[in-house]
Amino acid sequence: MSHTNIPLAGVIGCPVGHSLSPRLHGHWLKRYGIAGHYVPLEVQPDDLVEVLGAMSRMGFVGANVTIPHKEAALRLADQVSDRATLIGAANTLIFRPDHTIYADNTDGYGFMQNLRQNCPDWNPKAGPAVVIGAGGASRAIIVALLDAGVPEIRLTNRTRLRADQLKSEFGGKISVYDWVHLDRMLEGAATLVNTTSQGMVGNPPLKINLSDLPTSALVTDIVYTPLETPLLAQAREHGCRTVDGLGMLLHQAVPGFYRWFGTQPTVDEELRQVVLG
Ligand code: ATR
Repeated sequence: MSHTNIPLAGVIGCPVGHSLSPRLHGHWLKRYGIAGHYVPLEVQPDDLVEVLGAMSRMGFVGANVTIPHKEAALRLADQVSDRATLIGAANTLIFRPDHTIYADNTDGYGFMQNLRQNCPDWNPKAGPAVVIGAGGASRAIIVALLDAGVPEIRLTNRTRLRADQLKSEFGGKISVYDWVHLDRMLEGAATLVNTTSQGMVGNPPLKINLSDLPTSALVTDIVYTPLETPLLAQAREHGCRTVDGLGMLLHQAVPGFYRWFGTQPTVDEELRQVVLG
């Protein structure tokens, strides 16, 4: 197959129709006048190996990978970043000219950049971080928080085993709390993050009493439908600063766009509006 001179990238998922990435990257391509394309690709798990090889030969410069391919993409890559190895999943692939594949995971980076952009004086080292949930997003966020130097992570999950598993992998700074003791995790915390789907449109809100949370704490959510989740509304009423989850999605896309298309894109209000449609 032949190369075109127009760089191609895309998002691989199953299903992929709901992905906001095409709108996001499409907007940046237009904004920076780059003659590239970013396409959604619905790929069945059994076809992933073949599709990645074909994309590389067809001149794709890279791809985002989403559910259910994040772990498989990591295994299939020729080289993997340290953070993707730690997280155990890839969300960003680079197809190199020699047809090898480099895999990275930018979810934790997106999480940190969102907080840094929207709350510049937030200091992750100022106190314990409370992390609710122990799924894939939680892993990426824990890796990023530990890398940023948090003194302690207080972790809870409905299924305790998954939280214990993360503690055994990531070590001594993590303390695991029972799901029923959510409210006991909050004293002295500098950061609180919900990584579960609770509070998303169609799901019940997270049940939590914030009275022991210092008002100096920063509260954030990975859910961005709605932008202000019940947790964020409750935290704002309590007097805490809050940052919504949309910025994490936008910022995680930055490193891929930069490596594929050579321009460092900006995350701003205009982009938020475009992505929200
Ligand atoms: P993601 O990759 O988005 O993190 P995931 O790996 O499926 O997705 O994790 C979803 C998280 O939301 C988990 O922490 C999950 O808790 P369990 O490990 O107990 O499943 C949490 N979650 C989902 N539905 C929940 C509910 N109804 N109540 C509490 N937690 C829930």
